[in-house]
Amino acid sequence: MEKIAVGILGATGAVGQKFILVLADHPWFEIRELAASERSSGNRYEDVVAWKQSVAMPEKVRGMMVKDCEANLECRIVFSGLDSSVAGEVETAFAGAGYWVFSNAKNHRMDPDVPLVIAELNPEHLDIIPYQQKNRGWQGAIVTNANCSAIVLALSIGPLQKEFGLKAVHVVTFQAISGAGYPGLPSLDILGNVIPFISGEEEKIETETQKILGRLGKDSFRPADFTVSAHANRVPVEEGHLECVSIRLGEKASVQEVVRCWQQFAGMAQELNLPSAPKQPVVVFCEKDRPQPRLDVWKYKGMSVLVGRVRSCSLFDIRYVVLGHNTMRGAAGASLLNAELALKRGMLD
Ligand SMILES: NC(=O)c1ccc[n+]([C@@H]2O[C@H](COP(=O)([O-])OP(=O)(O)OC[C@H]3O[C@@H](n4cnc5c(N)ncnc54)[C@H](OP(=O)(O)O)[C@@H]3O)[C@@H](O)[C@H]2O)c1
Repeated sequence: MEKIAVGILGATGAVGQKFILVLADHPWFEIRELAASERSSGNRYEDVVAWKQSVAMPEKVRGMMVKDCEANLECRIVFSGLDSSVAGEVETAFAGAGYWVFSNAKNHRMDPDVPLVIAELNPEHLDIIPYQQKNRGWQGAIVTNANCSAIVLALSIGPLQKEFGLKAVHVVTFQAISGAGYPGLPSLDILGNVIPFISGEEEKIETETQKILGRLGKDSFRPADFTVSAHANRVPVEEGHLECVSIRLGEKASVQEVVRCWQQFAGMAQELNLPSAPKQPVVVFCEKDRPQPRLDVWKYKGMSVLVGRVRSCSLFDIRYVVLGHNTMRGAAGASLLNAELALKRGMLD
């Protein structure tokens, strides 16, 4: 199969760099365009990017010219890792010009005609796209993935919601610095410290989780009816968001039944054998002090969420810890999986 040309908006950022990595040897897609701000455009990628990955920059992007985020790129699909100050307008312009936009930015996530998709959990939410196209009068599309903490949480509670029902979720996050992009927070603020506030994060975790795990009606989404209470904290960790979660289930289940549910869970991404889909979306650890960001965040290529310390809860029913890679599973990898899903379902023909 001839590879499909794709572009990356915000190619120089933390998420953009992960897009470069996951797309570099992709079997279906080929990076043809890179775009970013005026600061970067008109320069060779390697001359303008602050490459912060532990693996070398792929040869093929080094000499590529970074362009402006104008909707005249030679490709039909764009992945967006744009800063939210510009993502809204730019993504609208691209969809209006006929591009399929797979976005990580917050701007369109809660739009009533825009799907917020996790390929394993709510692939059917993509069915809103024909309505979106009619409603907006465009040939393109905007498909979003959630906030990085919301993805990690939803992937862990989603299988339990399907099996046992879900009444309430309480989550406390410990979020990596890379979640704030590059250069992110000043070192004097975060080193040896915990910051118990991330602007807008708790609201995103609460509302986006309900949209993802809610239902798509004819032309609109009905959010899930369980309550979510989130506390968000920034911690001096480079990559990987850790979350302590307590849940009240619809019907009682033992720790063993909950663990079995996670271990047996597979979604459409696995059924369709999508190239970026992890074999097991939720992996359960038995060690008493795992998962840990430094030791575990890159396990399963950063595409599974890792659960540990599963036990019963004296306030709710079950409590556990979950870890996910914020720029992989929580951003670029999730977006790529959504594009693979749309392509495999024939929506991009
Ligand atoms: N980091 C995470 O863990 C994570 C997870 C999920 C979602 N997200 C979301 O993904 C998006 C990117 O996050 P990030 O962490 O990668 O941020 P980042 O490192 O700050 O990168 C931002 C990107 O946006 C570009 N940009 C900024 N202003 C622009 C403008 N006026 N016009 C065109 N391009 C512009 C930057 O280009 P220049 O280099 O040229 O300035 C850069 O490529 C954000 O919306 C964020 O909320 C991030």
